[in-house]
Amino acid sequence: MAVDVDSQYNKNNPFLAKLTENRLLNKPGTIKDTRHFVVELDGSDLFYACGDSLAVYPTNRSEEVDALLLALGATGDEATELPRLESQITFREALSNKLSLATPTRKTLIKFAEKASANDDQIRLDELLEDSNKESTAIYLENREHIDLLEEFPSVRFTPQEFVSGLRRLVPRLYSIASSPSQYPNEVHLTVAIVRYQTNNRDRVGVCSTYLADRVPLGESSVPVFVAKSHFGLPEDSSVPIIMVGPGTGIAPFRAFLQERITTGATGKNWLFFGDQHHATDYLYGEEFGAMKEAGQLHRIGLAWSRDQENKIYVQDKMMEAGAEIWDWVNDGAHLYVCGDATRMAKDVDEAIHHIIHKFGAISEDEAEGYVKQMKKEKRYQRDVY
Ligand SMILES: Cc1cc2nc3c(=O)[nH]c(=O)nc-3n(C[C@H](O)[C@H](O)[C@H](O)COP(=O)(O)OP(=O)(O)OC[C@H]3O[C@@H](n4cnc5c(N)ncnc54)[C@H](O)[C@@H]3O)c2cc1C
Ligand SMILES: NC(=O)c1ccc[n+]([C@@H]2O[C@H](COP(=O)([O-])OP(=O)(O)OC[C@H]3O[C@@H](n4cnc5c(N)ncnc54)[C@H](OP(=O)(O)O)[C@@H]3O)[C@@H](O)[C@H]2O)c1
Repeated sequence: MAVDVDSQYNKNNPFLAKLTENRLLNKPGTIKDTRHFVVELDGSDLFYACGDSLAVYPTNRSEEVDALLLALGATGDEATELPRLESQITFREALSNKLSLATPTRKTLIKFAEKASANDDQIRLDELLEDSNKESTAIYLENREHIDLLEEFPSVRFTPQEFVSGLRRLVPRLYSIASSPSQYPNEVHLTVAIVRYQTNNRDRVGVCSTYLADRVPLGESSVPVFVAKSHFGLPEDSSVPIIMVGPGTGIAPFRAFLQERITTGATGKNWLFFGDQHHATDYLYGEEFGAMKEAGQLHRIGLAWSRDQENKIYVQDKMMEAGAEIWDWVNDGAHLYVCGDATRMAKDVDEAIHHIIHKFGAISEDEAEGYVKQMKKEKRYQRDVY
């Protein structure tokens, strides 16, 4: 296990790391774009432990910055001031590196209404801001970025300083580290779903996932990062069995857990549940897990392919099928880990865990609830969901 020491590199002083690998993990025929990134930490004093995340400060796409400058009639060379920044920076730098160009809010609409000079714009903005339209306005905003508003309300004029004052700060994104510090002390591996979608008939991108996928040149020390410590981690006693549930990009920390347990000669048994759309195209790190299984290092694996048949099969279905053995492992002291989608998957998996403990532990639902609570208290049930 890597030594956990305070690094000179942190939120306020990120390390400029090199991206040395950017590889598509899905196979031809997939609709997904999940990448394996390798970020070199050489030259830093950054250490990480299994379960930690890497925080990445992205920059916005230059096309988006140019479109905003054009819509505002600015050159980009104008000086602007931002809170918590000691010196002035140019308008272009503020838009490129410091501010979020997406997610306008109700407050944004109020600012637009104050600045609208055309009647049509004023009427539409007043309508959007009416209390009775709160729900439809929230949907309207979800589908728009700042550039959409500037184009929809052309009479609205902002100075560069007024415009930057209305934007939120661009925050770093976290990625669960997918490599083990014992095997890869000087680099960090990431498993990232690249976010691309359409709203309001425009192509949109996730800022950080596409920054890594499309805009960072390989081999240049240019990616601002720091290590974000986590409570999510392997049991101290390496003979303890572990059950890991990580569909999609939720697999990331479990690749790290397995590498770490193998590299350090841990004797505890390992059980992995993974799922994604199609076996043929979306089995992330399938070759690696196959080799671990073959070598007897990964003792059990449950795979759920949601779109290989008419009805969805998810990781929790595979867990329910193996409920009796899961209960045996848990009853023997296994630690249970869940990583990935918070909104749907983690809730359903949590329900399955409760059900398995109730059914196969032959205890009441209330007792199962208490059992799970106790597991959480003892850090035997940990989740890293987003
Ligand atoms: C502890 C932690 C660990 C994480 N680990 C990982 C990891 O290992 N791998 C990983 O890929 N991610 C991980 N994430 C998520 C990651 O931090 C980012 O949130 C993710 O990459 C998106 O960031 P982005 O900048 O690319 O997108 P953003 O610019 O932040 O855009 C994302 C937003 O776009 C909107 N959006 C996305 N898709 C659609 C759509 N189809 N329709 C409409 N709107 C949409 C949503 O509002 C969404 O919130 C983790 C998060 C946390 C908190
Ligand atoms: N909080 C968030 O905003 C958030 C969190 C995670 C991922 N995402 C986004 O989702 C995209 C892909 O993410 P990902 O690659 O990590 O995979 P994912 O979308 O989480 O999907 C992985 C697998 O989980 C399945 N799944 C869907 N609902 C489930 C549920 N209720 N229980 C169990 N499994 C379920 C999916 O099946 P089907 O798709 O076939 O239903 C798929 O087979 C990315 O664009 C990412 O940004 C967003």
